[in-house]
Amino acid sequence: MPDRIDFNDRMLSLGLARVAEQAAIATVDLVGRGDEKAADQAAVNAMREQLNLLDIKGVVVIGEGERDEAPMLFIGEEVGNGNGPGVDIALDPLEGTTLTAKDMPNALTVIAMGPRGSMLHAPDVYMDKLAIGPGYPEGVVSLDMPPAARIAELAKAKGCEPRDITVCVLERPRHADMIDEIRSTGASIRLITDGDVAGVMHCAEPGQTGIDMYMGTGGAPEGVLAAAALKCMGGQIFGRLLFRNDDEKSRAAKAGIADLDRVYSRDDMVTQDVIFAATGVTSGSLLPGIKREVGYYTTETLLMRSKTGSVRRMTYRNPRQG
Ligand code: FBP
Repeated sequence: MPDRIDFNDRMLSLGLARVAEQAAIATVDLVGRGDEKAADQAAVNAMREQLNLLDIKGVVVIGEGERDEAPMLFIGEEVGNGNGPGVDIALDPLEGTTLTAKDMPNALTVIAMGPRGSMLHAPDVYMDKLAIGPGYPEGVVSLDMPPAARIAELAKAKGCEPRDITVCVLERPRHADMIDEIRSTGASIRLITDGDVAGVMHCAEPGQTGIDMYMGTGGAPEGVLAAAALKCMGGQIFGRLLFRNDDEKSRAAKAGIADLDRVYSRDDMVTQDVIFAATGVTSGSLLPGIKREVGYYTTETLLMRSKTGSVRRMTYRNPRQG
């Protein structure tokens, strides 16, 4: 009865780090080569191969897309060697395909794992997101507040002025009004071109990254991955699914979501303890990218467990093949 085997997050976490590392290493010859699809495919292949070596009976709940859209790591795909606990897996083999193709900062390989039923089965639609780091009262900011009010409240809670707050935002035309409103408060904006899992994670380490808050619309699957990261690192995230048409609404129905307007908190998106691993592909303020040295590749992986709040940074020196 493999589903009854306990989820041994301590031992499995080391295997998870390996999955993230190998996916990153698989992209090394595609960093800065202008081919997003090839980079993504290389990471997908490696992640799937490594996942299938793990002692788990895993199901992909956040993956590369629906079964008819993604040949590998599709939502519902079973992974692992079947000799272990039943687990849910959320993954993004290459978060920031364009960042990788252009060798721009903060491309990551990302994976989270928890017991069955631990993560929201978010459909591949957009999500309105708001995140802050640890140490603030629950609900000090909310999705229902306008952007300027979020900044005023966060500044009050931090004991500073709005001009001392830095907000991370995806640079998209849809965010133009929000950007104007944030700027009207005097707060600073760190615009990113892609990669909002990293964008949200930046809030958890403001001393290192200089970012206090993340807001804006990005992928819902990335929202759940970011929630898993903050469950380990501390911090708050809120998300509301956004639907552009009936097809997107039917994706939500298929995923078992009835209340289309619901605001999900971090712990609504990730309901039980999880483990999370991310490896840097290109260098950024969270993680260094893959380094090529004579005879070796070196990667750095962030490996975290929400049960203990432990955060490991693992450097891996791997002999170059061929
Ligand atoms: P990919 O790695 O799949 O290209 O996603 C990058 C990303 O920037 C995510 O981090 C973000 O959630 C999403 O795309 C935003 O979507 P869009 O580019 O449609 O605004």
